[in-house]
Amino acid sequence: EGDEDLEARPPVVTVMGHVDHGKTRLLDAIRKSDVMAGEHGGITQHIGAYQVTHTHEDIDRKITFIDTPGHEAFTAMRARGAKVTDIAILVVAADDGVMPQTVEALNHAQAANVPIVVAVNKIDKEGANPEKVRGQLTEYGLVPEEYGGDTMFVEVSARQNLNIDELLEAVLLTADAALDMRANPNKDARGIAIEANLDKGRGSVATVLVQSGTLRVGDTIVAGTAHGRVRAMFDDDGSVLTEAGPSRPVQVLGLSNVPRAGDTFFVTADERTARQIAEKREAADRNAALAKRRKRISLEDFD
Ligand code: GTP
Ligand code: NA
Ligand code: MG
Repeated sequence: EGDEDLEARPPVVTVMGHVDHGKTRLLDAIRKSDVMAGEHGGITQHIGAYQVTHTHEDIDRKITFIDTPGHEAFTAMRARGAKVTDIAILVVAADDGVMPQTVEALNHAQAANVPIVVAVNKIDKEGANPEKVRGQLTEYGLVPEEYGGDTMFVEVSARQNLNIDELLEAVLLTADAALDMRANPNKDARGIAIEANLDKGRGSVATVLVQSGTLRVGDTIVAGTAHGRVRAMFDDDGSVLTEAGPSRPVQVLGLSNVPRAGDTFFVTADERTARQIAEKREAADRNAALAKRRKRISLEDFD
C-alpha cells in the first residue's frame, strides 16, 4: 500500500463450488466453529459476511467470510473491478466430484489470482471418493500438497462438522504463505459494499467490508451512488459498533439509498462532498447506459 502504518489484517474468504456441493452448509458449520461465538450475547443476524476467530498456534486469528454465493460475489464484484476476496474455498462434494460449476469457480479464482483451498465435502457419504477429487483437480492445475503441489485439500463434512478447524487452519496457512495481508488502520476507511437492502423501518441497510482505514459512526461516506453519514454500525452478531478496521464486515445505517454489491465506498470530508460525488457517479452511470444503448442501435443498423 505504500504507507508505513501497515498492520496485519484478517484474510477475506469466499466459498465457491458446484450447486448443492455444500457451500451454505459449510459456511454455517464454520460460523458455529467460532471460538468467540455467543460471547457477546447478541442475536446472530444475516449481514452477508461474518468473522470467526480461530486459534492458531495459541494465537487467536480472525478470518472474514463473505456469505454471498461465490459466483455472484465474483461476477458482480469483479464486473465493477473490485477485489473482495483474498482466498477462495472451493467446495467439491466427494461423491459427485468435479462438476461444471466447480471448473467455472476455479477459473474465476485463478483469473483473479486468488489462492484456492479445496474443501472436499460430504466425506461422510457412502460413495465419497476424495482421492478421485484430488486426481480430477490436478488436471486443472490444483495439485495437492501430497502430490508435490501447493494446494491444500481438506476432507470435511459440513453436516457432521468434521475437520472444520483443519479447514480454517489451511486457510490461514495458505494466506500466510501466499499473501501480504496488511492494511493501514490509521486513515479514513475504504472498502466494498457486499450487499444492501431497503428496510421499512431502518431505511438503507448496507453490509460493507472495510478494506483499509477505520470506519467510524459519524463518518460521511459514498458507496456507489449512495451517500450519507454513518448513523449506526452493527456486527454480524448484532452488537453495536462505533468503529471497524481493515477486513471487518459491518452493517451500516444512514445511506441515502442502496449500493450494489461490489460498489466501492470511501469516507469524504463532509456530507456535501459525498452528495456531489454520488451525483457525479449517477450522471456517469446514466451516460454509460445511454452510450451502450446507442452502440447497440448503431450495430443493429448494419444488419
Ligand atoms: P446451492 O447454494 O444451491 O448451490 O447449494 P450449496 O452448495 O449451498 O449446498 P447446500 O449447503 O445447500 O447443501 C446441499 C445439500 O447437501 C443439502 O441437503 C445439505 O444438507 C447436503 N450437505 C451439505 N454438506 C453435506 C455433508 O457434508 N454431508 C452430507 N451428507 N450432506 C451434506
Ligand atoms: Na442447495
Ligand atoms: Mg447455498
